[in-house]
Amino acid sequence: MKVLVTGGLGFIGSHTVVELQNKGFEVVIIDDCSNSDESVLDGIEAITGKKPAYEKLDLKEKHKVEDFFQRYQDVTGVIHFAASKAVGESVEKPLLYYENNIGTLVYILKELCKKNKASFIFSSSCTVYGQADEMPITEDAPVKVAESPYGNTKQMGEEIIADTCKVTPDLNAIALRYFNPMGAHPSGEIGELPKGVPQNLVPFITQTGIGLREELSVFGDDYPTPDGTCIRDYIYVVDLAKAHVVALERLLNGNNESNYEVFNVGTGTGSSVLEAIQSFEKVSGRKLNYKIVDRRAGDITTAYADTTKANKVLGWKAEYTLEQAMNYAWIWEQKIRD
Ligand code: UD1
Repeated sequence: MKVLVTGGLGFIGSHTVVELQNKGFEVVIIDDCSNSDESVLDGIEAITGKKPAYEKLDLKEKHKVEDFFQRYQDVTGVIHFAASKAVGESVEKPLLYYENNIGTLVYILKELCKKNKASFIFSSSCTVYGQADEMPITEDAPVKVAESPYGNTKQMGEEIIADTCKVTPDLNAIALRYFNPMGAHPSGEIGELPKGVPQNLVPFITQTGIGLREELSVFGDDYPTPDGTCIRDYIYVVDLAKAHVVALERLLNGNNESNYEVFNVGTGTGSSVLEAIQSFEKVSGRKLNYKIVDRRAGDITTAYADTTKANKVLGWKAEYTLEQAMNYAWIWEQKIRD
C-alpha cells in the first residue's frame, strides 16, 4: 500500500513516516522544505533502513499536484501534514495561511475524489475548541470562533473535508485534533527542527537549556490555574505518529463508522508551563533560566483532551509521559548542537 505523506520531512510528518514504514507501508513524501530539511530523509533511513521516495514540490502549484497524482496512480492514501503553523505569523499574513493551508487541501481532495476509493488523514488541532467550557475536552465540545487565521484554517479544513465526504461516498477521512505535540524519536535520529526563534514552549525550553537562548519567557502567571501558568496536554510525537497509522488502518480496513470522523489526540493529562520547566530540569539536571512576563495575546488558559473516543474507537492510547517525552527532546537538542 503506497501512502502519500505531505509535509513528511516536518516534525510530526517524519515521525509518522517512520511508523508507517515500520508497519510495511510504502511511503512517498511531498515537502517544499519551507520549514524542514532534506537531511531528515537520512534520519528516517537510519531508523527504518529505508529511504522513502521524496518529491520536493510546492502544493500551491495545482498543476504539479495533478501531475503528481497522474504519475502515482497507486497512491490512494494520503496523510496531509503540509501546512503553515505559526499563530502570530498567520495574523500578519492571513492570505498566505489561507492559500497554504486551504488551497493545497482543496487540490489534494480534488485528486482523491477522482479515485474509486481513497483514504485521507487530516492534521487538525485542539485550537478548534478555543477556550472550551469544560475539561477534559471531548470531540462534542463546540467549535469556537477562531482566534487566528491559522486556527481558522484548521476549522475550515475540517468543514471542507466534511462537506466533500458528504457527497463523495468513496472518500473516507479522519481529522485528528492534536493537543501539544513534543519530543523526538528515541533513536535521536529525528526530532523538531524549528527554523528561527521557536514559537512553541518545548523547543524554546531545550534551546534555552543548551544556551542558544538566554532565557525563556513564561507568558503569564496570573491565570486561574493552581500555579498561575497555562495548562496544556503535551503529547509525545511518537505516540501521535502511531495514532496516524492506526487511523489510516481503520479506513483501509473499512472499520470506520462514517466516512468522516474526528478524534482528539492527547494524553488526557494537563501540565502547566512551570511543570514543563520542572520536568526539563529533572531530565537535564540543569536549572532553566526563565522569567515571568505578560500574558501572550490569544493564549487560552487550559486545554487537555478527553481521549475516551480515541482509546475505545481507535484502540489507541498515549504511552509516554511528559517527562519521558522531555527527555527525548533534550537528547535531540544536545545531539543537533554537538
Ligand atoms: C499553539 C496553537 C495551536 C497550534 C500550536 C502549534 C492556539 C491557541 N494554539 O499552541 O493551535 O497547533 O501552537 O504551533 O492557537 N509558552 C511560554 N513561553 C514560550 C512559549 C510558550 O510561556 O516561549 C506557553 C504558552 O503561553 C502556552 C504554552 O507555553 O501556555 C504552550 O505554548 P505553545 O507551545 O506555543 O502551544 P499553544 O499555544 O498551546
